[in-house]
Amino acid sequence: MLLVPPLSRRTLLHGAALAAGASLLPRPARAADALITRPIPSSGERLPAMGIGTSRRYEVAVTPEATAPLREAVERFVALGGTVIDTAPSYGTAEDVLGLILEGLREKIFLATKVAARGREAAQAETERSFQRLRTDKIDLIAVHNLIDTEVNLAVLRALKEKGRIRYVGVTVWRDEQFPDLEAVMKREKLDFVQVNYALDSRAAAERILPLAAERGVAVMVNVPFGRDRLFKAVKDKPLPDFATAFGCKSWAQFFLKYVLANEAVTCPIPGMAKASYVEDNLAAATGRLPDAAERRKMEAFIDAV
Ligand SMILES: NC(=O)c1ccc[n+]([C@@H]2O[C@H](COP(=O)([O-])OP(=O)(O)OC[C@H]3O[C@@H](n4cnc5c(N)ncnc54)[C@H](OP(=O)(O)O)[C@@H]3O)[C@@H](O)[C@H]2O)c1
Repeated sequence: MLLVPPLSRRTLLHGAALAAGASLLPRPARAADALITRPIPSSGERLPAMGIGTSRRYEVAVTPEATAPLREAVERFVALGGTVIDTAPSYGTAEDVLGLILEGLREKIFLATKVAARGREAAQAETERSFQRLRTDKIDLIAVHNLIDTEVNLAVLRALKEKGRIRYVGVTVWRDEQFPDLEAVMKREKLDFVQVNYALDSRAAAERILPLAAERGVAVMVNVPFGRDRLFKAVKDKPLPDFATAFGCKSWAQFFLKYVLANEAVTCPIPGMAKASYVEDNLAAATGRLPDAAERRKMEAFIDAV
């Protein structure tokens, strides 16, 4: 029989000293340690300031095999402290896919979907389908997709909110040409969220929409923060400019996302991310320092020149 000798007083003191010393050492960097959060103005609830968008890349077969890489990405996202996931009934199978891969994770997710129906009955049917497809009895946010039949859809959403089946209502757009209509809706309606396109090379939302959201107390999700592949193509294989290291950028994705997040009216960008490596990269953008006003001007000048 192997006898383990009792620990000597010296060993114990040495161990205690090591433990005390260890607490002075920097801990390994983990995004979950310091994810930036922003409040939803209508409730004060804080959200981690980076979410997942699910159009296109989550439109796969609803099978364990086809959804495995997506489940891996979402598990990594949750492990790093992310909560916000955005989808829509019109994203092919994406709602069904989320219903499958969120099994066991639903309570950790702030789940947002949309409605794009025309007419009250159609809106009621579409939202009911979302509950079924997402396999949940509570959806955190439903937004009117692309301002389709806004008043009718909003009335249906408000009835769901009254019943406690959803927690927030909003509207979405994704093109600058929709901004005048969006602005009118934001002035007319009481909204919890808007979702709007805003990116380093597509900055029109910062002129009127983001200030109006701040003034009206509306949370802002930012869609297409990379312009899909537009920004990556623009910088091609160029190295990051030296000034980007001052605010902790290690990749182009972080450069683009930190620019968006530096606008205080932004609650949460929702880049499409279907890979665990993208999740790690993009969530790290919501940690550490964000560029200040002068740095943001430099970023704009840089992208305008490429
Ligand atoms: N009207 C609306 O309501 C509306 C309209 C459009 C979008 N949206 C929402 O906004 C979300 C985001 O838009 P989006 O997905 O079309 O465009 P996006 O977020 O601008 O771009 C997403 C793409 O960027 C690439 N990417 C992501 N992270 C990366 C990283 N760290 N490094 C390198 N490449 C990276 C991926 O390309 P690859 O997959 O090709 O590698 C990904 O598919 C949508 O998923 C949707 O939820 C809403």
